[in-house]
Amino acid sequence: MQSLLVTGGMGFIGSNFLHYWKKHHPEDRIRHVDLLTYAGNRDNVRSLEGQAGYEFVQGDIGNEELMMQVMRGIDIVVHFAAESHVDRSIHSPRSFVMTNVVGTQSLLEAARRNNIQKFVHVSTDEVYGTLGQEGAFHEHTPLAPNSPYSASKAGSDLLVRAYYETYGFPAVITRCSNNYGPRQFPEKLIPLIITRALRDELIPVYGDGLHVRDWLYVDDHCSAIERVIEAGVPGEVYNIGGHNERTNIEVVRRILKLLNKPEDQIRYVADRLGHDRRYAIDSSKIRCELGWTPAYPFDLGIQMTLDWYVNERTWCERIADGSYRDPDNQVGDHL
Ligand SMILES: NC(=O)c1ccc[n+]([C@@H]2O[C@H](COP(=O)([O-])OP(=O)(O)OC[C@H]3O[C@@H](n4cnc5c(N)ncnc54)[C@H](O)[C@@H]3O)[C@@H](O)[C@H]2O)c1
Repeated sequence: MQSLLVTGGMGFIGSNFLHYWKKHHPEDRIRHVDLLTYAGNRDNVRSLEGQAGYEFVQGDIGNEELMMQVMRGIDIVVHFAAESHVDRSIHSPRSFVMTNVVGTQSLLEAARRNNIQKFVHVSTDEVYGTLGQEGAFHEHTPLAPNSPYSASKAGSDLLVRAYYETYGFPAVITRCSNNYGPRQFPEKLIPLIITRALRDELIPVYGDGLHVRDWLYVDDHCSAIERVIEAGVPGEVYNIGGHNERTNIEVVRRILKLLNKPEDQIRYVADRLGHDRRYAIDSSKIRCELGWTPAYPFDLGIQMTLDWYVNERTWCERIADGSYRDPDNQVGDHL
């Protein structure tokens, strides 16, 4: 039995990770800290509330005093909390620096002072920048972030590295490609297409729609993090990807077809500023050294995702009208 501190578990990947971990490691204790920003949705983990061994603390990872308290008795930290949307980072970069860089530093410091056994920092392939038509990012690809979001994540990665190098702090970094699956906020591509298509609304596609992403089903990301918790070597970086490259327009067309919706819902719109053209991940290190393999082919993962959004219309409606927000959604010390 071990005690985990999970940050950002009211969001997309963090909430899927909490469900994954509870299912596969029911004996473990989980303390969960989240600020409940616009991206945090309590409904995402409602079924865990009240369960033995699960505890939620609402708070900011940038609050070092609070982080010192939540670290007590914790063995392992899994750090998802972040500002995560590239478009928002283009319009207001500051909150990205505050949470992703300053917040990560305060979490690292609290973890270091509490002698945490392992700290898994969940990062992104976007820190590597963009690719041409050939090749893939590997762990030694130089960092060359192009958006304020990816720059702030790269900043946090460098702090994690520095904590390992300076203090011997047992941190591991994971860099994953684009995730899809249940509970993703519909500002991101796949849930945006699904929720708009279900409401027969127009579907905006940036530029020529030929930007390429390497899609991974969210449970495969969770199983990769599980392997890193179990066997990841401190100081190392592990790339995680699905070997599943697709253009954005291909993904849009596939979803419309599966939902039996017409392609005339598609509207090409002005491209995102500084839009990275192509991401692709070389994940041979985690596959060879930790024995991880993804379990969900895209056809299966996308069908499961569609089924979830179709069945969870109430979740989608509550997101659309903003009523998923907790009425007493205040930052505070709930310990
Ligand atoms: N979504 C992807 O495709 C993807 C791919 C690779 C890596 N990542 C990384 O995975 C992590 C999770 O991504 P996501 O898509 O689930 O994000 P998300 O935006 O869905 O969730 C982020 C969560 O963090 C919380 N949060 C934000 N600021 C906070 C703060 N200051 N203190 C405490 N909590 C705070 C939010 O309330 C929310 O619950 C991020 O670090 C992201 O960079 C995401």
